[in-house]
Amino acid sequence: MMGDKYEKNCDMIKDTILEVQKQFKEALAKVQEALALEEIKNTFLGRKGKVAGLFSMMGEVPAEEKKDLGQLLNKLKIELQSDFDAKVSEFTSSTSKKEWVDYTLPGYSMPKGSRHPLTQAVDDMLSIFQRLGFDIAYGPEVETDWFNFESLNFPPNHPARDMQDTFYTEGGGILRTHTSPVQTRYMSKHEPPVRIVAPGRVFRNEAISARSYCLFHQIEGLYIDTDITFADLKGTIELFCRMYYGKDVKIKFRTSYFPFTEPSAEIDVSCFLCGGKGCRVCKNTGWLEIMGCGMVDPNVMKAVNYDPEKYTGYAFGLGVERMVMMRLGINDIRTLFENDVEFLKQF
Ligand code: PHE
Repeated sequence: MMGDKYEKNCDMIKDTILEVQKQFKEALAKVQEALALEEIKNTFLGRKGKVAGLFSMMGEVPAEEKKDLGQLLNKLKIELQSDFDAKVSEFTSSTSKKEWVDYTLPGYSMPKGSRHPLTQAVDDMLSIFQRLGFDIAYGPEVETDWFNFESLNFPPNHPARDMQDTFYTEGGGILRTHTSPVQTRYMSKHEPPVRIVAPGRVFRNEAISARSYCLFHQIEGLYIDTDITFADLKGTIELFCRMYYGKDVKIKFRTSYFPFTEPSAEIDVSCFLCGGKGCRVCKNTGWLEIMGCGMVDPNVMKAVNYDPEKYTGYAFGLGVERMVMMRLGINDIRTLFENDVEFLKQF
C-alpha cells in the first residue's frame, strides 16, 4: 500500500516536471517585453515558484527514487534558468540596439517659416516711421460711413461711395476703402499733438487683375500740431524714401486731389530699376507713384472738434503692395495673396 502511494507520487512528480517545463517554454515564447520576464521568474524560478514546489515534494518520495528524481529536478532547474537567462540577454541586446543613438550624426533640419514679403515691408516701413517719432495706431476693417467718408469731407455724392468701389456688409457697415478713417478715429479720441502711422488692410470692389486686387495694404500717416507746414511733409517723406529706397532716390510731388487734404499731392519716386532712364516697370516714365498726401483739410479738423485756426497738419497714405512689387520685381499682385509657399520662399 505504502509502495503504491510512493509509486504514484513518483509518477505524478515526473508528469508535473514535464508539465512545468512545457508551461515555462510556452510562457517564455510569448514574452514581448522585458517587464513580463519578471513575472515568469517569480512563477517558475522564485522561492515559492513551481520548481521550488517540485523540490518540496521530494519528502514524499521513496529513498531509492530520490536520487533519480533529484537529478531530474536539478536538470529541470538548470535548464529553465539557462533558457531564462538566454531570453533576458536577447532582450537587453535587442532593446539597446533600438535605443542606440549616434550623437555625431548631423541633425535633421526643420523647414523654416518666414515672414510674408508684405509683412516684412510693413515692418520695415513702420520701424522707419517709429525712428522718426511716429506712434502706431490701428483701426477696424469694418467701418462706418461716418469715419470712412463723411468725417473725411467726402461730399454726399462723391463717386468713391459708389457701390462699384465699396463693399458693404449686411448690417450696413463698410469694409474700409482706405486707412484714412484711422485719422479721424484717432483724432476723436486724442488731443493734439498727434503723430501716428496706421498700417492695415483696405478693400475695394474692383475687377481683379495683375494690377489690382479686392484687398490691399496701406500705411496711413498723420501729424497734427501747431505750425505744421507742407515743408514738414516734404522733409519727412523725403527722409522716409531715402531710408527705404536708398540715398540716391529722387522724389517728385505732383498736385492732386483728395477730399480730406488741401492742398493735395501724389508722390513719385525715381524708378529703382532703371534709375530714371525708363523701363518696363516704370512704363518708360522713369517715375513710380507710391503715395497720396497733403495738408489736413480744415473740414476734417472740424469733424473731430479740432480748432483749424490753431492746428495744422499733414497726412499721407502709401500703398504697400505697389512698393513691394516694385522692390521685388513682382509683376502680378495676385501672387502676394495666393500663399504659394514655393513662390514666397524666394523672398
Ligand atoms: N486715402 C488715400 C487713398 O487711399 C490716400 C491718402 C491718404 C491721400 C492721406 C492723402 C492723405 O488713395
